[in-house]
Amino acid sequence: MAAAIWFLIALSVYIAGPCNGGVTSYYVRKSSPSVDMPIEHFPPPSGHNVPEQVHITQGDHDGRSVIVSWVTPRKAHSHVVKHWAADKCNHKHKTHASTTTYTYHKYKSGFIHHATIKRLEYDTKYFYEVGHGHETRQFFFTTPPKEGPDVPYTFGIIGDLGQTYDSNSTLEHYMSNPKGQAVLFLGDLSYADHYAYHDNRRWDVWGRFVEKSTAYQPWIWTAGNHELDYGPEFGEPVPFKSYMHRYHVPYKASKSTSPLWYSIKRASAYVIVLSSYSAYGTYTPQYNWLQEELPKVNRSETPWLIILVHSPWYNSNNYHFKEGESMRVMFEPWLVHYKVDMVLSGHVHSYERSERVSNVKYNITDGLCTPVKDPSAPIYLTLGDGGNIEGLANSFTEPQPSYSAFREASFGHATLEIKNRTHAYYTWHRNHDNEPVAADSLWIHNRIWYPEEED
Ligand SMILES: [Fe+2]
Ligand SMILES: [Fe+2]
Repeated sequence: MAAAIWFLIALSVYIAGPCNGGVTSYYVRKSSPSVDMPIEHFPPPSGHNVPEQVHITQGDHDGRSVIVSWVTPRKAHSHVVKHWAADKCNHKHKTHASTTTYTYHKYKSGFIHHATIKRLEYDTKYFYEVGHGHETRQFFFTTPPKEGPDVPYTFGIIGDLGQTYDSNSTLEHYMSNPKGQAVLFLGDLSYADHYAYHDNRRWDVWGRFVEKSTAYQPWIWTAGNHELDYGPEFGEPVPFKSYMHRYHVPYKASKSTSPLWYSIKRASAYVIVLSSYSAYGTYTPQYNWLQEELPKVNRSETPWLIILVHSPWYNSNNYHFKEGESMRVMFEPWLVHYKVDMVLSGHVHSYERSERVSNVKYNITDGLCTPVKDPSAPIYLTLGDGGNIEGLANSFTEPQPSYSAFREASFGHATLEIKNRTHAYYTWHRNHDNEPVAADSLWIHNRIWYPEEED
């Protein structure tokens, strides 16, 4: 009898793990590196100069503009996008793009066009067309509703996507959910830098791969370390060169001086994008901008304050452990003061959700250096689980720290369904399940309008 009891105790320790914190899910189906899909899987569209790699993002601060970007491989012409409201197809408007090219080592880009379509109506479906003559392509998007405190809106959340078969599974899972209206992308796009001389053909392939989503709904871009493309040893010393030629964001609309940090309003959310790989110390441009930005957020207009930053501040994986620590030290007191609802990060290739904790009391001499529960603190979500070529980060620190509520090394994506000013329903979907299955879920309570602890 005693032996049986000891067996049951030992079995329960084995299953649950030696945890002090939340749940560590040992649901791991795959730990080997993922394999990139062959370049030949994503050929250019057939034709001489057919537009490709089409993607859209928000083009202003409040959602009435859209930046349409595309590449023409051989000639700059045409650099015009036509658009029309779905119910007014006789009324077509033209917008001229700015066009750029760049070289990277021995690679030469196609003609990259960015056009900002302005003064759109809210909550309206538009068609748009790029290309020339018989080589045109048509797509559509829907503008967001006008901002307001109780406007429902659903974001998809994807990080560290890459271009493997797992990446494709993540994207297909997200797209099979009809609720997602825009994607909050958490950095690390193509992983072209995995290849010799950062083979920039992989940037083109990535643009073709994600077009099935990015051409139809805005992706809000965050820069990760794989966007640095820093290669001084082969004559490429300019950080973010490829990324910044290819992905434009409306940074000037939020008085930012760099496309690497900016903000947008969308429906009932205020989204602030930060850069882990730009200076953020006192007096730096990013520091000064964020200091002036946070007091501007009107939570009566946009109750949900969400921050995107590539490298997580609270994460308990051994991979990249504490890489976000210095930025946390700089900015966490502001985020607690302004009651930020959520911080979304990527970088660590697994999934983790934190408790609402802060670690802002420490002053070197007082010894108060442990994160504590704090109702004014954001929830930190790590979603570096898009499925890239580096594979899963499947080594968690043990025991699980008390700030960690749930963690699992699986690929997947999340959705955030904002219902009104008080409640949003958050779900995480692993690729091994069918999309409707939520492996982790939580009703999130707004920090200003309903600052109660989540169940
Ligand atoms: Fe990263
Ligand atoms: Fe990554």
